[in-house]
Amino acid sequence: LSACTGINERTFLAIKPDGVQRHLIGEMIRRFEKKGFKLLGMKLMQALEDLLKEHYIALCDRLFYSHLVEYIRSGPIVAMVWQGLDVVKIAYEITSGSSSLLCLILKVPILFPHRNVIHGSDSIESARWEILLWFHTDKLTCWAESTEHWIY
Ligand code: PPS
Repeated sequence: LSACTGINERTFLAIKPDGVQRHLIGEMIRRFEKKGFKLLGMKLMQALEDLLKEHYIALCDRLFYSHLVEYIRSGPIVAMVWQGLDVVKIAYEITSGSSSLLCLILKVPILFPHRNVIHGSDSIESARWEILLWFHTDKLTCWAESTEHWIY
């Protein structure tokens, strides 16, 4: 885990049910690829309640907690791990804040404020924790530098 800094920094992103239903998977992936980040892991899945309750544990005393868990559980999501320099901060800037800003960037209409298309880890620590939580049984892809030499 200590190697996951600098250009090897990693973050967890999840396209939420509204993002999947609005056909925004490709658009979101395109944005992160355009930033030069590398996709290390991706799965289309319907998350179980226990996993989501753990993922959102920091919000468990908020009134909207169960509503949020129910909502993310309501349809397929795309869980992903991305790697790159400052990926946590940059991806969080793209994904966080008001869904209205994200919708503006994506040029799609704002539908409901908390159907906000995508989740991104808010810090390096949360990213480590969320990647372990969502991908602990999966082997993440390793991009050996030599595989990219032909591009340059
Ligand atoms: S807070 O209040 O600052 O702790 O919350 P915030 O960082 O804005 O959001 C954390 C996640 O909670 C979701 N959220 C909500 N869902 C449903 N209803 C309401 N009222 C609500 N408020 C916040 C928000 O979309 C964030 O989800 P993720 O998956 O982390 O993006």
